[in-house]
Amino acid sequence: PVTVFKNPKEASINVAHRIAKIIKTKQENNLKAVLGLATGATPIAVYSELVRLHKEEGLSFKNVVTFNLDEYYPMLPTAAQSYVSFMNENLFDHIDIDKANVHIPDGTLKLEDIPAFCLAYERKIEEYGGLDMQILGIGRTGHIGFNEPGSAPNSGTRLVTLDDLTRRDAARDFGGKSFVPTKAITMGIGTIFKAREIVLMAWNTKKASIIKKAVEGEMSSDVPATYLQLSENVEFILDEDAASLLT
Ligand code: F6R
Repeated sequence: PVTVFKNPKEASINVAHRIAKIIKTKQENNLKAVLGLATGATPIAVYSELVRLHKEEGLSFKNVVTFNLDEYYPMLPTAAQSYVSFMNENLFDHIDIDKANVHIPDGTLKLEDIPAFCLAYERKIEEYGGLDMQILGIGRTGHIGFNEPGSAPNSGTRLVTLDDLTRRDAARDFGGKSFVPTKAITMGIGTIFKAREIVLMAWNTKKASIIKKAVEGEMSSDVPATYLQLSENVEFILDEDAASLLT
């Protein structure tokens, strides 16, 4: 299903409150909430609402376990552009999550150690009982996570090569495209699919044409997000601008 909100803020608050509800329901049952998280511009207001809920309404994250979708490769966690830094700045440093419960693909691995790391990442998600919710943005290539065009629907966590358009879109964060890593470690489309709920968010007119393809286009590895059409647990949360080309 597709839900359209007036603006990104209202949409983000809605998503944050759904996450909070999962966390609280799990707390009442003494269970862990297992969340799949994304970086980038899209989820920032979701995270700021979660921080507000923690600071002003006492929402605790002590029972929360997180798995991020992706990390650039190579990437030092301490680098300003790392997704570790992003998550700390936008969420983890402002809530009471146990940092031992935070998982982000490791951008410092030796190449030969990546396959074993990726298998262990998948296994760890399963050990926690799977993702209760995965939140996603969408790239202008149609990527989810960093599953670029050509990704298989059953792909797992792995090392991938970033599309040129994705690197151009990231150029601003790195002070030029040539400084953007050419690779990343990402959960696969198959990994994302196992989540019990998937919420894909998109805002602004610059996402309108890829959203039209993702929601209404023919399913194809040319636009990996079209594979979400196969899942019954996906919700597209859009603002009016991102939804503006939908029929
Ligand atoms: C980020 C990720 C990417 C982004 C996508 C959109 O962890 O996996 O798929 O969600 O590139 O990025 P923004 O939100 O910056 O437009």
